[in-house]
Amino acid sequence: MVSTRRGTGAGPRHVAIIMDGNGRWAARRGMARSIGHRRGIDRVRDVIKAAPPLGIEVLTLFAFSTENWRRPNYEIDVLMGLFKRYLVREADELDAGDIRLVFIGDRTRLPLDIQRLMDQVEERTRHNARMTLQVALNYGSRAEIVRAAQRLAVEVAAGRLSPDEIDEAALSQHMWTSLVPDPDLVIRTSGEMRVSNFLLWQAAYAEFAFVEECWPEFTPDNFAQVVGSFAHRERRYGAATARG
Ligand code: FPP
Repeated sequence: MVSTRRGTGAGPRHVAIIMDGNGRWAARRGMARSIGHRRGIDRVRDVIKAAPPLGIEVLTLFAFSTENWRRPNYEIDVLMGLFKRYLVREADELDAGDIRLVFIGDRTRLPLDIQRLMDQVEERTRHNARMTLQVALNYGSRAEIVRAAQRLAVEVAAGRLSPDEIDEAALSQHMWTSLVPDPDLVIRTSGEMRVSNFLLWQAAYAEFAFVEECWPEFTPDNFAQVVGSFAHRERRYGAATARG
């Protein structure tokens, strides 16, 4: 879905975050990377709480990429353990806060108990309307685009779709993100300026904000500041500037 044009002064409806720098934050303090990930979960809680009062309707968090499987087994186990605990512990609070939780990414490679919890919490929160929290788990944008193309090809091969019916809307509808509008603002923490295979299709017209803080030190104030600065940017979607 393509987000509607919003004039200067409006806040972002959909904010997506690449939560980077857990490991570096911990290493700089002489601590294990796992401590950085644990602190990262605290910031996840803070940001989820801070988002609806800022007018955010969709919050997408990049929790685990298809490339993250290359990390040492120990670290992958720590992350999977944290995801599992998060799902068990936070389901009640998300539901009570009227937040819908959905996952994007290829969940079939994740441990079965986590897949089951993901299904349960999605089902439990599906009618919640205050905000949609989209968590990217085993997510890779290129894999998502390939999958969408394959699905469209199947439709064409079955005679249900003609090639000229394949347009941007059709491709968007076959993405994992089909439930939500495109992101207006993508934030990456830890000073890195890369997109890292995140929402490549959906972020075509998004604004980007790269902040110096590592994820474990990204406070609700930092978040509000970045979101507030978005309102002052002029989004042109390829059109001429209003300033001439
Ligand atoms: C990046 O830091 C962070 C991750 C790969 C994991 C992000 C996960 C969380 C914050 C917790 C889980 C979230 C949810 C929604 C339950 P890094 O390890 O790449 O840091 P580095 O670049 O300094 O090494």
